[in-house]
Amino acid sequence: MSSLTPPVPPAPSVPETAANVIEAAEEVHAARTLADSRPPADEEILTVENLTVEFPTDDGVVRAVRGISYTLHAREVLGIVGESGSGKSVSSMAVMGLLPKNARIRGSIRYRGQDLLTMRPNDQRSLRGRKIAMIFQDPMTSLNPVRSIGDQLAEAVLAHHLVPRKQALGRAKEMLDLVGIPQADRRLRSYPHEFSGGMRQRVMIAMAIINDPDVIIADEPTTALDVTVQAQILEKLLEVKDEVNAAILMITHDLGVIAGMAHRTLVMYAGKPVEVGSTDQVFYEPRMPYTAGLLGSIPSLEGERDGRLRPIGGTPPSLIHLPAGCPFSPRCPLATDECRSGEPELAAVGEGHLAACHHSDTLAEAEDATAFFHTPGPEEAR
Ligand SMILES: Nc1ncnc2c1ncn2[C@@H]1O[C@H](COP(=O)(O)OP(=O)(O)OP(=O)(O)O)[C@@H](O)[C@H]1O
Ligand code: SF4
Ligand SMILES: [Mg+2]
Repeated sequence: MSSLTPPVPPAPSVPETAANVIEAAEEVHAARTLADSRPPADEEILTVENLTVEFPTDDGVVRAVRGISYTLHAREVLGIVGESGSGKSVSSMAVMGLLPKNARIRGSIRYRGQDLLTMRPNDQRSLRGRKIAMIFQDPMTSLNPVRSIGDQLAEAVLAHHLVPRKQALGRAKEMLDLVGIPQADRRLRSYPHEFSGGMRQRVMIAMAIINDPDVIIADEPTTALDVTVQAQILEKLLEVKDEVNAAILMITHDLGVIAGMAHRTLVMYAGKPVEVGSTDQVFYEPRMPYTAGLLGSIPSLEGERDGRLRPIGGTPPSLIHLPAGCPFSPRCPLATDECRSGEPELAAVGEGHLAACHHSDTLAEAEDATAFFHTPGPEEAR
């Protein structure tokens, strides 16, 4: 793939905030960007429809996911972004069948048209881990510390295929080569603690792709790594996506990661999608104040904008006692009585672009949507 692809210059009318984030992402993904990778196909691989997940607890029912829907096409990268506790992991664990037994799950999760939630357990098991694979944030908790890397990779093959162990080990070596681990033959005999954090995350990628999946769910795959290693891992993910022809669900709290990685972006707040669109639409034309708030709170390459960041004030709501109306209303600078009395539905605000906000028109008219979160500096406050 060409490493000489010039970065796409931001359009002149783009708000400074979005341009900064995109520029930063392009710098991080200097060697490989989404533009270098194979485009998505029309084929629908994974369709999640009105998924809800609740956990009964002593304090009340936690409404962790309150109705998420999305479609993932072959080779597409869909970014799911939101603050801690917004339901990103719970919704993807539901796809993987990894939720605790007390979770109440409703809706449908269809893999190539077959509903995973109503499928026989044996059929579910054969799909999950093979056709739908997951990369977790912390490889140390996913890898067994007392077994060699080769053993663990071979086991992942043997769990789904009746092949000789030698063949499974051969596949393991091939995968380590593919994810860029030097001397793969020798490294098969190493243990997880003998690898650096970045190398371990490469092993997790190898584990995820070893059975040729159609979908890779990457849940904060680079949060524990420093920025340079993070960029290498993300580039590797884009590369392997094309090698195995997989789609990626990229879960992160970091909009900077999504900017260089995702074709489309879904923003979650309090268990629900609040904005969905192409990554450019979400970055350049946010129509939900929470998205604008997230964009405004990302540091730019040159440092903080106007000398300071614009964080979103307040904290996410309790998922047991949600506020009436729009759950973002206690933190939203645009909130009105209408917002406090009725929760907005996701509605079309452009082609393929949806937002859940009573006042998305106000954002559409604003020159810089992030400015609504502007907090006066010491000079102005006086
Ligand atoms: N087993 C459980 N029982 C009760 N509540 C749970 C359980 N698992 C998750 N939750 C709650 O569900 C909500 C959504 O959690 P989730 O892990 O999906 O958040 P997240 O968006 O992935 O956050 P983070 O960025 O911190 O990973 C949180 O409020 C969490 O406390
Ligand atoms: S509906 Fe109202 S409170 Fe909610 S995000 Fe839109 S403007 Fe803010
Ligand atoms: Mg999570």
